[in-house]
Amino acid sequence: MLKTVKIAYFSPTKTTMKILESIAEGLEAETVQHIDLTLPEAGTSRPDEMQAELVLLGVPVYEGRVAKAAISRLQQLKGNKTPAVVVVLYGNRDFEDALLELGDLAWELGFFPVAGGAFIGEHSFATETRPMANGRPDMKDITEAKAFGSRIRTKMESLSSIDDATRIALPGNTPYIDRDRSALADKAATTIAETCTLCGTCAPLCPVGAITIEEVVTTDDLACILCNACVKSCPTGARVVDDPMINKIANWVSKNYQARREPETFI
Ligand SMILES: Cc1cc2nc3c(=O)[nH]c(=O)nc-3n(C[C@H](O)[C@H](O)[C@H](O)COP(=O)(O)O)c2cc1C
Ligand code: SF4
Ligand code: SF4
Repeated sequence: MLKTVKIAYFSPTKTTMKILESIAEGLEAETVQHIDLTLPEAGTSRPDEMQAELVLLGVPVYEGRVAKAAISRLQQLKGNKTPAVVVVLYGNRDFEDALLELGDLAWELGFFPVAGGAFIGEHSFATETRPMANGRPDMKDITEAKAFGSRIRTKMESLSSIDDATRIALPGNTPYIDRDRSALADKAATTIAETCTLCGTCAPLCPVGAITIEEVVTTDDLACILCNACVKSCPTGARVVDDPMINKIANWVSKNYQARREPETFI
């Protein structure tokens, strides 16, 4: 039986965290410890201890790649040859090179990737009228994640030491496809002053500390990574990402990627 499993994640809207928790449940470890790398504090005070039999590393897919903000957070971890499972969460469009990139990053950090998975979570830009995997991960995804955890447990039990393992092969392009990512660079969430009650919910949830609440709510446009954590948590709907270019892209994704995609696992 596995004694200690650690789950390390960057997860502004929590779908990545949910899937890692479910995989960990399937592993049936004695202890599951969270290393939440989402908030800005995680960028400065993270101890690099990785004493565990297995670490699950999880990040969201942004524009077909590992979310950039997650990379610097993960880079604080030292793998020390700890076996790792790499997991990406995407909004039902595609994960492109993100899983391969996360596997490579884990390897560079000294982890030993033994399994990988791409799971689906509600798209950050989804709304009721513009659905994109709304409500996912759902029960079917959770069941699949637990079953994946159980298969990983069997694999771990079959290894007498990590030296017996082979690095898992993951799908993706080498080199990764280098897309122009400038379209979203200067976009940011905004606040509708008339409906904002200055309740204070949004600012502490921002992974890059972009929100300041004083007499009004202001946003550091260049820092915002469009994760939508503030939008999804605002109790009055005052926090929005409402930009013509983003709306055009999100409407297109919603229209063209309705067919349900299922998790893919590599073990
Ligand atoms: C800037 C940005 C880019 C995204 N790009 C993609 C993408 O290329 N493919 C996709 O399927 N989902 C994409 N998504 C959706 C996220 O991958 C998805 O919502 C994920 O579940 C969020 O993880 P979290 O809940 O842990 O924050 C994107 C989201 C954002 C904010
Ligand atoms: S969560 Fe919404 S209502 Fe509360 S301060 Fe932020 S924008 Fe205003
Ligand atoms: S301000 Fe931007 S980065 Fe911060 S929570 Fe909102 S969408 Fe995410």
